[in-house]
Parts: sequence; structure tokens; C-alpha cells
Amino acid sequence: MSHPAPTGYSLAQITLHWIIAAIVFFQLAFGESMAHAIKAREEGGTPAGADGALASAHYWLGIAVLALVALRLALRVARGVPAPVDEGLTGKLAAGMHHLFYLLLVAAPVTGLLGFYAGEPWGGVHTVAKPLFIVLILGHAGAALFHAFWLHDGTLRRMLVPQRG
Ligand code: HEM
Ligand code: HEM
Repeated sequence: MSHPAPTGYSLAQITLHWIIAAIVFFQLAFGESMAHAIKAREEGGTPAGADGALASAHYWLGIAVLALVALRLALRVARGVPAPVDEGLTGKLAAGMHHLFYLLLVAAPVTGLLGFYAGEPWGGVHTVAKPLFIVLILGHAGAALFHAFWLHDGTLRRMLVPQRG
């Protein structure tokens, strides 16, 4: 299957990028409530405070990430994505980082579901997603801001404004 590489992202691709990013931030901030809720359940009690509601949100938002990433990958294959702004090593690094993100965006919900229904070792494997996401996000957002405020090129802009025509 071949198609001409687009020069920007579509509105659907941009919308999916920011919705998924917002959900991932929520999952990283409140994921521990799921661990607390499961511990309370194992001890025969009920989750304290907001843990029950946050654990439920963690479950459904995590499954939403899986569905939205499937949609995003299908769009990526069908429509394509613009070539990296940089040629050479930094462009390859950016592309590699994007692939790692996709791997993690699938692996986090899948290991989460396995942890929820099958228990260990999957719950433990699932918690590794947190430091991995944090390192990737810091590198990725740092690179985006570096492009925007030091290099003054269109890298950040193309994830904000859809390609015309
Ligand atoms: C993008 C998706 C997801 C992200 C980023 C994510 C992130 C996290 C984080 C940060 C924690 C807390 C880890 C800690 O205590 O240090 C956690 C715990 C947990 N999450 Fe997720 N999660 C995702 C999806 C899911 C899904 C779909 C499920 C399915 C039910 C799930 C089930 C769990 C379970 C069972 C725990 C407790 C694990 C344990 O302590 O053994 N997660 N998650
Ligand atoms: C959880 C948070 C995030 C995740 C999982 C994520 C994931 C991704 C992925 C997978 C791509 C590649 C899209 C593709 O070509 O298929 C991408 C592109 C991009 N992201 Fe993020 N992102 C996150 C947060 C952010 C933040 C906070 C910023 C800005 C500060 C940002 C700015 C960008 C930009 C500018 C691009 C386009 C790069 C290019 O065209 O070469 N992202 N992101």
C-alpha cells in the first residue's frame, strides 16, 4: 500500500493526540487509587475515600486509550504521517520515540487488564509503565518545546493546526 506522505496531521489525528495525552496524564496521576482499591478488596474491606470512583475511572479510561490508539494506528496506516522535521539523527530519534509511545500505549492497558483479571506478575509489570511514560513524555514534550521556542520551526504548530487542503 503506498500513498503520498502528507505534510501535516489531520484534525482527527490532532484530536486523538491530545485526548490520549490528557487521559494518560490522568492515569499517571491517579493510577495508585487502583492499587489501593485492589488491596482493600483483597483485605475484605471497601476502598477508602475517592479510591473506588478513581479506580473505576482508571479501568474505563484505560480501555478507552486502547480503543483510541487502535483508531489512531489505523489512521496512521491509512493516511500516513508527515516526515520528521529534522533529517538525520534527531529525526530518527523522534520517529523512534513515537514508536516507543505506541508500544507503551498498547502495552499499558493490556498489562493493566491482565493485572486486574489474572493478578501477578502482570500488576507489577503494569506499574513499570509509569516511569517509562514519564521519561518518554519529558523527552518528547521537551523536544516539542525546544522546537517551538529555540528553533522556531513548525513542529509544535503542526500538532495544533490541521493540514490545509
Ligand atoms: C494508558 C493506560 C494506563 C496507564 C497509563 C496506567 C497507569 C497506571 C499507574 C500509574 C498505576 C499505579 C502504579 C503504582 O501504584 O505505582 C496503575 C495501577 C493499576 N492499573 Fe493501570 N494504567 C492504564 C490502564 C489500565 C487498565 C485498562 C487497567 C485494567 C483494568 C488497569 C489496571 C491497573 C491495576 C490493576 C493497577 C494496580 C496494579 C498493582 O498495583 O499491582 N490500568 N496503572
Ligand atoms: C502522554 C502524553 C503524550 C503522548 C502519549 C504523545 C504521543 C505522541 C505520538 C505517538 C506522536 C507521533 C504521532 C505520529 O506521527 O504518529 C506525537 C507527536 C507529537 N507530539 Fe506528542 N504526546 C504526548 C504529549 C505531548 C505534549 C505535552 C506535547 C507538547 C508539549 C506534544 C507534542 C507533540 C508534537 C509537536 C508532535 C508532532 C511531532 C512531529 O510532527 O514530528 N506531545 N506525540
